[in-house]
Amino acid sequence: MSTIPTPHIEEKDPSNIASTVLMPGDPLRAKTIAEKFLKDVVQFNTVRNMFGYTGTYKGRRISVMGSGMGMPSIGIYSYELFKFYGVDRIVRIGSCGAYTSELKLYDVILADDAYSESTFAKVQSGYDKDSIEASSTLNEKIVSIAKQLDIPLTQGRIHSSDVFYRNNHEEYKELRDQHGCLAVEMESFALFANAKNLGKEAACLLTVSDSLVSGELTTSKERQNAFTKMMEIALELAE
Ligand code: HPA
Repeated sequence: MSTIPTPHIEEKDPSNIASTVLMPGDPLRAKTIAEKFLKDVVQFNTVRNMFGYTGTYKGRRISVMGSGMGMPSIGIYSYELFKFYGVDRIVRIGSCGAYTSELKLYDVILADDAYSESTFAKVQSGYDKDSIEASSTLNEKIVSIAKQLDIPLTQGRIHSSDVFYRNNHEEYKELRDQHGCLAVEMESFALFANAKNLGKEAACLLTVSDSLVSGELTTSKERQNAFTKMMEIALELAE
């Protein structure tokens, strides 16, 4: 344990954060999840409005906190939770853009691993490969929960990109065909790198919010509803 509070999380007592933390990108989604799904909720962070809450789901403890967008942002928050608050596992619950025509809007993806051009892992620890696996233990639990809830999951490699607005839209085909990526998001590679580096567990569930193949988009309201499926899976990880 090192210094708490950290520069980005104001909680002084690590026992106020559960051993499992769910991380949506949007801190307001963290707030909604806490209000809608959790009981006995206590807020543990307001710094930079990156809200974090701990509560119970069906009597079991779980925390939920925003990660912000992109690898630098989730890289900071997940590192502080793992290293300084003793968190054991973090599950990102986010949205992604589909790279394949088989994926439809609102499908739920479970990342086996994340491919990235990012230097995050190399700079942090000297890790020199371009992909990092999710925790197989966590993924096995997630698969079994999804089966019980009868929610279909697509499992595979995802692309963690630093760039949302590429000049050449067609490059997604190369990422799909050469690197085997099903979909794109912007955080998991750094989350998985932190977990690997610190001996912790991380996983990532994603809902398809747009398609780079068809150009289809969801509205923010539709996304909110569709995310419920993914959240129900993730919340069952409460302990
Ligand atoms: N690109 C990157 N991240 C995303 C996307 C996308 O198209 N959709 C949802 N997250």
